[in-house]
Amino acid sequence: MQQPGDYTALEVAGMPIILLRDHDNILRAFANSCSHRGTKLLEGQGQCKAIRCPFHSWTFDLDGSLLGAPHMQEAKNFDLADHPLTPVRVQNRDGFIFVNIDGQAMDLDEWLGDFSDLHAPWNLSDLVTARCTSFMVDFNWKIFLETFNEYYHLSTVHPHSIDYLYDHPDPADDVIGEYTSQFGSHEGTGGLILDDDDAFRGFEPIKSLSGRNVKGTRYSWVYPAMTFAASTDSIWMFEVSPITPARTNVRMTLAFPSSTVARPDFEQHVQQYYKRFDVALREDIAVQEKQQAGYNSPLAKQGRFCPEQEPSVANFARWLVESLI
Ligand code: FES
Ligand SMILES: [Fe+2]
Repeated sequence: MQQPGDYTALEVAGMPIILLRDHDNILRAFANSCSHRGTKLLEGQGQCKAIRCPFHSWTFDLDGSLLGAPHMQEAKNFDLADHPLTPVRVQNRDGFIFVNIDGQAMDLDEWLGDFSDLHAPWNLSDLVTARCTSFMVDFNWKIFLETFNEYYHLSTVHPHSIDYLYDHPDPADDVIGEYTSQFGSHEGTGGLILDDDDAFRGFEPIKSLSGRNVKGTRYSWVYPAMTFAASTDSIWMFEVSPITPARTNVRMTLAFPSSTVARPDFEQHVQQYYKRFDVALREDIAVQEKQQAGYNSPLAKQGRFCPEQEPSVANFARWLVESLI
């Protein structure tokens, strides 16, 4: 979404939204619902000069204003200006687009606190999406996010895949804002499962990284439902949407610097990254389904968190309690 007229239709918390660049290339968001009789206006991604409703052809400009409504001349007191698309609050930070449907959320800068400073070394807004997939899982949304943000399960759940990657993680960072973050050091990229004889060892590190950041992965979780791992050469991000208490839609995005994606051998090597995530996710999902099965018991109890390897889960639990009570 770089050019005026570029749009993406997506669902946020089950609600259809349009993201688009208007004629001045300003990022805007609208309800994907016609202001005549509610019809969904756009699907997928594309380019448009205006938005025409597929039902009765009301046509909207890229700023959401209603340009035309056929055969409405005889409607009394009908004014095009009274029927724009419903705008949705939208802001871009570090390459991530945040929307707020009810318009009541706190200011985004306040929500994110020092997020931009902590993640500045990865130059996140330069990254481009290589693959975006979505899938359903049969467990609570928090289970997915918690697992992603702890190291405790690695040796039990991923003994033959990604466990070798990480040694002991740093303590969780002391951050300002509604998020948690923990860095784990390792050699090479966290985006591949490598054997000693693999010739390809990963794409070049993100150019802006230096020092310890070139030797590890930062796991961050913006509350409540977005998380990502920023590694040496890429980031992989997950957004979750609860469907029911025990069913969740997960969207995964894998992103690399634009210079990496421009490599002629990118498509060939990126397949290995896809494989790594598919393997690790399969292993996670198997145990996450067991966790949900255990939680289905009214006798299930909360235990204690491991201070070294689950601090982000504890931080989230604290945040959630404080948000709810
Ligand atoms: S519902 Fe869109 S023009 Fe009628
Ligand atoms: Fe895992």
